[in-house]
Amino acid sequence: MQITLKIFRYNPEVDSTFHYETYTLEGEETDRVLDLLEKVKGYNDGTLSFRRSCAHGVCGSDALRINGRNYLACKVLVRDIGTNITVEPILGMKIIKDLIVDMEPFFENYKKVLPWFINDSPLPADGKERLQSPEQRAIFDEGTKCILCACCTTSCPSFWASDDYLGPAALVTAHRFIFDSRDEAASERMEIVSETSGLARCHTAFNCTLACPREIPITKLIGELKIATITGKIE
Ligand code: SF4
Ligand code: F3S
Ligand code: FES
Repeated sequence: MQITLKIFRYNPEVDSTFHYETYTLEGEETDRVLDLLEKVKGYNDGTLSFRRSCAHGVCGSDALRINGRNYLACKVLVRDIGTNITVEPILGMKIIKDLIVDMEPFFENYKKVLPWFINDSPLPADGKERLQSPEQRAIFDEGTKCILCACCTTSCPSFWASDDYLGPAALVTAHRFIFDSRDEAASERMEIVSETSGLARCHTAFNCTLACPREIPITKLIGELKIATITGKIE
């Protein structure tokens, strides 16, 4: 079948503004958008720039705006979106070249919620692990699936409006540690997400949940954090 691929192009070294280029390719309905981008790069224009690594939905590096919605290019098939495909960079980030954006501010926000395990207490007397029941683990399990692709944060209208908003990805990570019964820095993280750049900026738009390739119920997790700020209850 014939597939038309319209791709956002911008090279700041030579272009004064962006433009789109259109390519017509032979492909299959089972081709992924990443396969099509590789074809263009391999056979039409080797200067086309985009990020990718695992090609299997694990590394989170190929988040793109495809037909107006955020997806991982390696997870979306032609049969899911049709044969007229527009590919653009994710929104709200500085464009470095073509489909590559500067992810640094995204990771800066991520680091603000202290995304590591904090527990300075001595190990239990038997010297073994810090035990946790399956029920305690289930409370934060969904957030552990995040691959930091930024599909959520860059689909959020509150993030587009103010780039100092921590964003849903950082809040998912905050939830993952705040509700972990083994971690001891919940109150410190609660203070961080309660600042004006945190939970208050989420207006329950729900775009984040719809965009997440790992099907993490992001809006629900953010809601649990909001409730915890009111009740002070973390369990
Ligand atoms: Fe990507 Fe989902 Fe993690 Fe957001 S929560 S960064 S959409 S995996
Ligand atoms: Fe944004 Fe998701 Fe909240 S899209 S406004 S973080 S529910
Ligand atoms: Fe790794 Fe798509 S290339 S998630």
